[in-house]
Amino acid sequence: MIYDYVIIGSGVAGLNAARLIPKDKKVLLLSKKSPWECNTFWAQGGVAFAVDREDIPAHIEDTLNAGVHHNNQAAVKLLSEKSNEAVNDMIKAGLKVDLNAKGQIALTKEAAHSRSRILHADGDATGRMIHMFLIEQFPHELVTNVVVSDLLIKDDVCYGVQYFVNETEEKVAYAHNTIIASGGVGSLYKYHTNSTSISGELQGICLEKGISLKDMEMIQFHPTVVRGTHFARKPLLSEALRGEGAHIVDDDDKRFLFEYHQDGELAPRDIVSRAIFDYATKTGKGVFLSFKNFEKEFFKKRFPNIYANLKDLGFELPFEKVPISPAFHYTMGGIPTNLDAQVVGMKNLYAIGECACTGVHGANRLASNSLLEGIVFSKIAVEHSLKNHFEIDSKAYDKKINTHIRNKSIDKDIKDLLRKLMWESASIVRNESDLRSALNQIEIFLKEDVGRLLFLRLLTAKSILTSALGRKESLGAHFIKEN
Ligand code: SIN
Repeated sequence: MIYDYVIIGSGVAGLNAARLIPKDKKVLLLSKKSPWECNTFWAQGGVAFAVDREDIPAHIEDTLNAGVHHNNQAAVKLLSEKSNEAVNDMIKAGLKVDLNAKGQIALTKEAAHSRSRILHADGDATGRMIHMFLIEQFPHELVTNVVVSDLLIKDDVCYGVQYFVNETEEKVAYAHNTIIASGGVGSLYKYHTNSTSISGELQGICLEKGISLKDMEMIQFHPTVVRGTHFARKPLLSEALRGEGAHIVDDDDKRFLFEYHQDGELAPRDIVSRAIFDYATKTGKGVFLSFKNFEKEFFKKRFPNIYANLKDLGFELPFEKVPISPAFHYTMGGIPTNLDAQVVGMKNLYAIGECACTGVHGANRLASNSLLEGIVFSKIAVEHSLKNHFEIDSKAYDKKINTHIRNKSIDKDIKDLLRKLMWESASIVRNESDLRSALNQIEIFLKEDVGRLLFLRLLTAKSILTSALGRKESLGAHFIKEN
């Protein structure tokens, strides 16, 4: 059988694409673990969108300013112009978002936004609410615990995917359209806010097929995760907390961010993360998020999930300040796509959401533009693919099977070393010598008999380091310090 669509990934981009594909099409969605093990599920803050036509130029400008004008301007314009319709389309289809006293969409503000334009759901569980809404709407075939081990690419045509279920059962799915929506590269880093299933393998497959990744040096570090927990995924303290008045302070309750930027806590994310890193290194002091400004009842109502999570960790909010540190959060770069969400130079292959590099985020993503990108570009990909049907003939593809998914004797150790290496080299502040020695180390790992999955992650990590070495000047999230 040939599917009309194979979608890789169960976050907002993949699930929204599935929702929009007509029900009579044959669609297979592959999820690496359980469907909720994706970054969308953990997203707190919200979805940014141009609240009316007049807001489009300001949303564009804020996105470009945060991205240090490294963005693809046409992609930013498209994102902003399509944002209101795409968001309202989901609300009309049944997505429940928080409303204000007048019954209108409640809007909040986050760092580097010039106005309140971010919708949220269940206070601070926007991603989870979107995910649950999309899963409820899901009308097609879903397979979980899937490792995608290859894309079936010959010349410039994608014929589908090869994958393993439970790492043992090898399968091939031919498809007229393949949509990659597999997320970024969070698990390549020791400290991150991502689902542990997100580790950049599809980006590695693209590299293997000769598709060069774009802007891979542009890695975003979220300024505020809870410091000192043992979880693999570090608990996030949403940007929306600062938008509503939380302060970043030191041991002595001093607000130091104004020494770094006139907007203090509401400066762009890369600036806040670097300032925290610099201040802690320079002074040896701890850095905290303080909620002193909040009334307890307001805090509990507006941030019910953060309140409950921090209570479980032993914090009494809003009275106690919480120790914070930056951690890996988001991959601005990725698989290069055009404005129709097609992978550049390929037929029948789309990439949407965090795995893609549409260029909308430039050198630093504006807060809450990520769920928006998933929503808008999934719609664009579906609309384009329905109008531009390119039938494949599966007989034209000679199948080559990779069976060596893991090498249990060495993969775990190398994976841990890789995460440490990436955290210490391609990090908030970088220097050429650390980047170069990390790259040499990865070349050594690549010569080991590692399993297929780790091999692909190593290729992706290598491309981050190579891109970082290629950009000699600091720009946005890529900050180079002399050795
Ligand atoms: C947050 O809630 O701070 C994360 C939102 C985002 O990454 O845009």
